[in-house]
Amino acid sequence: MNRNNPIHQLRYAWRNPHKIAPHLRRLTRDTWLRLRTRDHVSYYRAVMRSDTARDPEGAVGSKSHQRWIALGRMQFDYLVEHGLRPDMRMLEIGCGNLRAGRLFIDHLHAGNYYGIDISPDILMSAQQVLAEYDLRAKLPHLTPVRDLRLEFLPDETFDVVHAHSVFSHSPLPVIEECFAHVGRVMRPGAWFDFTFDRTEGREHQVLREDFYYRTETLLDLAARHGLAGRFMDDWEKLPHKQSKIRLTRPAA
Ligand SMILES: C[S@@+](CC[C@H](N)C(=O)[O-])C[C@H]1O[C@@H](n2cnc3c(N)ncnc32)[C@H](O)[C@@H]1O
Repeated sequence: MNRNNPIHQLRYAWRNPHKIAPHLRRLTRDTWLRLRTRDHVSYYRAVMRSDTARDPEGAVGSKSHQRWIALGRMQFDYLVEHGLRPDMRMLEIGCGNLRAGRLFIDHLHAGNYYGIDISPDILMSAQQVLAEYDLRAKLPHLTPVRDLRLEFLPDETFDVVHAHSVFSHSPLPVIEECFAHVGRVMRPGAWFDFTFDRTEGREHQVLREDFYYRTETLLDLAARHGLAGRFMDDWEKLPHKQSKIRLTRPAA
């Protein structure tokens, strides 16, 4: 399904008339922000600023506080079932306001969680979450970034890298920038889990906010940067619309 196809859009609008007004609002904002920003990251930072001002939990994609809790728990349980241990060091790319991060921080030893995000606004909301859930003593690192070159982080540091619902909002050059640099900060044998909006048809985007990729595109791109990838079938069983890929930095 190509969500940009006018016939698909008309049919969708016919079946979901209540979604027409919100989409038109997003379209207007998209046009306005496109004119005012010079690249994708600045554009998306502005989207996050506007969404966070309205509702930080909504800004990371949760329609209610209950969903915010549930989506964080789903990410956390999955990684723990896959072997995330307290002694591991973790990098979360696009950590948002710690929907899952608060659970990772609680689980990991103090100082072992690093969250980065392009949005200073959502990181301020993340600080409130830290205080609210009494996680100060865990001394997590929260850092705003301009890009995904990860230049400020040391070599071979992380056992696990996680990016949930970040590449679903990223054009391919942003994802490639991440793949080109993330291997350097991963320990040999470390894994990098990320979710993406999957299409089996033509790759496309809706506004500048939502991007749909074929699995092979992302696996091929990762392989070009020395990362072995696989599609995570067990994630598909969970109540979530995005799919998941795991990349591994081959052990030395
Ligand atoms: C849908 S939210 C998800 C947040 C968090 N991963 C979660 O599951 O709650 C996407 C987050 O990724 C951040 N983001 C988007 N593009 C990014 C990029 N290129 N680098 C770092 N963070 C990015 C946004 O600012 C936002 O906080």
